Amino acid sequence: MHYFHYVGDKLYCEGVAVESLVKKYGTPLYIYSQRTLTEHFQKLDRALSSLDHLICFAMKSNSNQAVLRTLGNLGSGFDIVSEGELRRAMAAGADPGKCVFAGVGKTEGEIEFALKQGVYSFNVESEPELARINRIAARLKKIAPVAVRVNPNVDAKTHAKITTGTYENKFGIAFEEIEAVYARAAKLKNLRLRGFQMHIGSQLTSVQPFEQAVRKVLPLVQRLKAKHGLEFFSIGGGLGIVYDLALESGSAEWWQSAKAKSILTPALYAARLAPLLKPLGLRILMEPGRFISGNAGILVTRIEYVKRTGKKNFLIVDAAMNDLIRPAFYEAYHEIVPLRRKGGQLISSDVVGPICESGDFFAKDRPLPRVGEGDCLALLSAGAYGFVMASNYNTRSLVAEVLVNGKKYAIVRERQPVKEIWAGEKIAPWQK
Ligand SMILES: Cc1ncc(COP(=O)(O)O)c(C=O)c1O
Repeated sequence: MHYFHYVGDKLYCEGVAVESLVKKYGTPLYIYSQRTLTEHFQKLDRALSSLDHLICFAMKSNSNQAVLRTLGNLGSGFDIVSEGELRRAMAAGADPGKCVFAGVGKTEGEIEFALKQGVYSFNVESEPELARINRIAARLKKIAPVAVRVNPNVDAKTHAKITTGTYENKFGIAFEEIEAVYARAAKLKNLRLRGFQMHIGSQLTSVQPFEQAVRKVLPLVQRLKAKHGLEFFSIGGGLGIVYDLALESGSAEWWQSAKAKSILTPALYAARLAPLLKPLGLRILMEPGRFISGNAGILVTRIEYVKRTGKKNFLIVDAAMNDLIRPAFYEAYHEIVPLRRKGGQLISSDVVGPICESGDFFAKDRPLPRVGEGDCLALLSAGAYGFVMASNYNTRSLVAEVLVNGKKYAIVRERQPVKEIWAGEKIAPWQK
């Protein structure tokens, strides 16, 4: 579900014509729908209502402070992966006591900072990390709350670059070793074994791998709870979204389609998992990123040139792989629609950016309406792993971001002034 839809022939985000935002803020431009973010969060929250639960939004998927504030106001905690993310969440008003700190490479400085702020849990990925956290906690005369991340060795059946729960991956500790790790960790005096964590991958479109993983670890979690008095079980994130649904005349219609009906919904997810989790008597944490933010954002781009060469019709746009790397990095599909809906024949087109890489494309051989120089296109479902993965490659400024709420809108990140890109650079003394 999302609130990007056509009214007449114009694309709207909630009650605001996207064209009017383009006029005001230019392109490329990320636009987020607050109502979509809110409804996605609430859908999940309601689905989990039979469980004592906390949703910790995976802010790696979208860390704009206005997005974090939206979710924080709804009661969300945050799944963080760096000191920077913790600082950013706190700047947006987050309570560190509702933050879980994940990641395989936490530095000494990051652990010390997070411990001082009072994060809810460190989700630990290795024994050396447990030892390091214990050492730092002892020095600070603190007790560090930890959960160990299990690698359940379950195939999430998703893209190789976003699967995390098999023994090919660097994440977590092997299922067979976990119990012994908890036993050794229990001897470390400055740790509190607070929970248990897993995350098997991202963009999962079937409930089956989640269920398989939960069923596999349940007896283990029960034993660990009995032995070590655990308080929570985090089942990670990974709920997939629909990327390849054409935008029809309204979101309601979109949601009715057969394909939309076959996707993994929070209701189905909870119906299969809650009965397994409830008897544990533990607090259940969930770390969704993409499910909440993915369909809540679009990237709008302007066509600079139409180039017909050989067999191809290239639409050369002003956004590039540095603004949205998902197609280049994951071969990801994003629906592309014009801001002004057009009838007529569709033309097979490649939508490409201006960067000097063949990987700088958004779509290949995509049937699109006849559009021309100066027309704008929207890349849908760009709210997760979009802006957050942007770079300054080719000395291109980070683009602006706008949040829409009903008929209101606000710029929530200014376009980066180009001089800022090299502001930290210096000429070496011997070059002066
Ligand atoms: C530990 C952990 N939790 C949650 C997430 C969020 O995943 P998703 O955006 O697919 O929900 C990730 C993504 O990489 C992760 O590594």
